[in-house]
Amino acid sequence: MIRRPAAPDDLGAVHAIYMHAEVVPYLGIDPVPLDGFRPVFDALLATGSFFVAPLDGSVRGFYRVTRHAGRARHAAALETLAIAPAAKGSGFARAMIEEALDCMRAEGILRVELMVEADNPRGIAFYRKLGFEQEGVLMRAYKRASDRDYVDEILMAKWLGT
Ligand SMILES: CC(C)(COP(=O)(O)OP(=O)(O)OC[C@H]1O[C@@H](n2cnc3c(N)ncnc32)[C@H](O)[C@@H]1OP(=O)(O)O)[C@@H](O)C(=O)NCCC(=O)NCCS
Repeated sequence: MIRRPAAPDDLGAVHAIYMHAEVVPYLGIDPVPLDGFRPVFDALLATGSFFVAPLDGSVRGFYRVTRHAGRARHAAALETLAIAPAAKGSGFARAMIEEALDCMRAEGILRVELMVEADNPRGIAFYRKLGFEQEGVLMRAYKRASDRDYVDEILMAKWLGT
């Protein structure tokens, strides 16, 4: 098993990856110091479905799974996903997400959705490699404080059933 549920002690490691210059442009919030990140991290912990992926004793990646409710219970969103830049291109991200998909399948999840920014070609290529397909575009749904323009979000999904 690569993953484990995130714990309070993971705050520093998750913050370091999240705020890395190659990562933070593609996640949910603008750069903040550790103290400003604490409430965001606490909210992730409170979901009970925020996972970290350690390698050789250090956290190298993380992601969150949010299962929908009611008649959409067979679907889940994959969010807040990143790999430490030092582990980029090593296949670790692929292994981390393939395990996540196996765990979701085992829990009865059949549909996995995610959103990736239109200006994140590496992320889009990564998800395509893992079998996600584009379903739509959310126009101007994302904006970094450092940018003048709004960015489109690409909605991608993968069906885990037969
Ligand atoms: C997106 C991210 C997780 C991908 O991690 P990674 O380390 O590049 O991925 P891996 O090395 O595990 O590669 C997995 C597969 O994707 C492919 N891939 C990765 N980047 C690619 C690119 N730019 N073009 C084509 N294929 C690519 C790899 O070739 C590999 O395929 P293979 O196993 O058949 O060789 C990582 O770049 C990241 O954390 N980025 C910053 C945060 C981010 O963008 N998160 C997503 C927000 S929606």
